[in-house]
Amino acid sequence: MNKIENISFNQNISNEENIISLLKNKRKSLPTQYLYDDLGSKLFEKICDTEEYYLTRTEKQILELNASEIVNEVLPSEIFEFGSGSSKKTKTLIAKVLKKNKKLTYFSFDISVKALKMSYHELDKISENLDVQLIKGDFNNDIKRIKKGKKNRLYLFLGSTLGNFNNKIAINFLKNIANLMNKEDSFLLGVDKVKDEKIINSAYNDRKGITKKFNKNILNVINKKYKLNFKEKNFLHNAKFNSEKSQIEMYLESTVDHSIKLPNNENLNIEKGEKILTEISRKFSENTLSDLFSKANLEIKKNYSDDKKYFSLYLLKSMKYP
Ligand code: SAH
Ligand code: TRP
Repeated sequence: MNKIENISFNQNISNEENIISLLKNKRKSLPTQYLYDDLGSKLFEKICDTEEYYLTRTEKQILELNASEIVNEVLPSEIFEFGSGSSKKTKTLIAKVLKKNKKLTYFSFDISVKALKMSYHELDKISENLDVQLIKGDFNNDIKRIKKGKKNRLYLFLGSTLGNFNNKIAINFLKNIANLMNKEDSFLLGVDKVKDEKIINSAYNDRKGITKKFNKNILNVINKKYKLNFKEKNFLHNAKFNSEKSQIEMYLESTVDHSIKLPNNENLNIEKGEKILTEISRKFSENTLSDLFSKANLEIKKNYSDDKKYFSLYLLKSMKYP
């Protein structure tokens, strides 16, 4: 396998103070990146295959239907994907580019080594003309250490991972990409749209309970990292659509009064019914998106969607170059 380039700034510093303050806060939360350890990345792949999780198959279908047009429009020599996961969906696009161009460099950028490995195995054998580069980093902290493209780069951010950022972080992330882009570069963004609440809720509460496992696994990750003693059995998976904020909020809800020992040896009491936020997943409207894009200096070139308008792909350009 190709070497993984690690551009994380705080590679080995475990951020105990941050965890303590997030857990002591009246509204408790955990850093979402801890959902994606080796097991979490595998569970995420399984979520994508569940019947209820319409996002992956809808986005895949939009990509397949429009790959030719997208590739003709941007003709990339490089593809740089943020939070690539297994890169399964991206394969369609890569295959189309290779038919047109002789060579392509694909950069897979992810915080999870497991995801980078899966991505490599997914793409390794496709073609001698494909160069796969693996980069480990955090898309909110390490973006400034990413080198600009050499020629016609296409940035990808799929799976509605943008929806896992609050508004401020989303604007910041999009701004950073607009700045990273050269004149000829493009950016393809996949986002989930507002729709019937029932459909959204069931996507995050699959019958097989894989999302529940994915959610609870964060406890094992932080137990190991910060020597904590959270017990899975003391929590239930709670994921519900908050229509005011137009977002799924995923929590671990305590089923008993109990206490855990924090890294500073303090005891933290957690009451029955108390909730710890592990992830949000925003569902966007056209208006929210155009507001985000204009604040981030991005301009819409093309917009692709499915028949039901469940999911959208936006092809964007940086407005730095009028
Ligand atoms: N793009 C894929 C995977 C989406 S899941 C798809 O559409 O199916 C989100 C991905 O982002 C995971 O692979 C996860 O490991 C990665 N990720 C989560 N937090 C991250 C962070 N802070 N920095 C970089 N990657 C992150
Ligand atoms: N980007 C994905 C989404 O927002 C991440 C995800 C998948 C997720 N399953 C989840 C987030 C369950 C929270 C809960 O859909």
